[in-house]
Amino acid sequence: MKTADQLPRVAVFASGGGSNFQALVDAAEDGSLPAEIVLCLSDRPGAGVIDRANAAGVASVVVRPKDFGTESEYVDKLSAVLDTYRVEFVALAGYLKKIPSDIVRRYRHRMINIHPALLPSFGGRGMYGRRVHEAVLEHGARWTGATVHLVDEEYDTGPILLQEPVPVHEGDTPEDLAARVLKVEHRLYPRALGLLVQGRLRLEGRIVRILPPTG
Ligand code: GRF
Repeated sequence: MKTADQLPRVAVFASGGGSNFQALVDAAEDGSLPAEIVLCLSDRPGAGVIDRANAAGVASVVVRPKDFGTESEYVDKLSAVLDTYRVEFVALAGYLKKIPSDIVRRYRHRMINIHPALLPSFGGRGMYGRRVHEAVLEHGARWTGATVHLVDEEYDTGPILLQEPVPVHEGDTPEDLAARVLKVEHRLYPRALGLLVQGRLRLEGRIVRILPPTG
């Protein structure tokens, strides 16, 4: 068993309520996720996720892109925060700002995102929150789901790590769907982050192979 100071150090970036942040913190706490959540980074001072971080004893930092005159000043600030907390992996959990390419490069294959649909459907710029579930319903899709993927320079296009389908029921509202998908997300995200921090992923082109556990 690794002590806390040997565990991989993870930052969670979030803009909203933070139920996925909570799922990651809970899994780290109960030992099912072999990682330490060392930082919650948000772009919104009033985000619910900050209250969750405080309650969990996780440091939180707010960095608002609009407070910086240039992209490079913004990147420098993000980098400095990530250095301060010695962050090795990043999990995006409802983070609504685009990650600057310099940060994507720095954390290439060490940064993941969770999306509340089965990518590559119903993803991309502007496809977040309620809009995703509305689009699924408007399209008449029978299935939706959750996807965890590695982050690249675009929205929702990185190699897929894990996915789980969720049925769409007759008469569902976007809220019904969001709640059904979120339940799955809370199970899927800690599992995906666990695979990443344990080095159990091998990339072949854009295909992610999952390696068996070692030891
Ligand atoms: C989740 O549905 C996630 O897939 C998406 O944003 C939502 C965040 O919810 N990227 P929460 O803040 O974790 O509750």
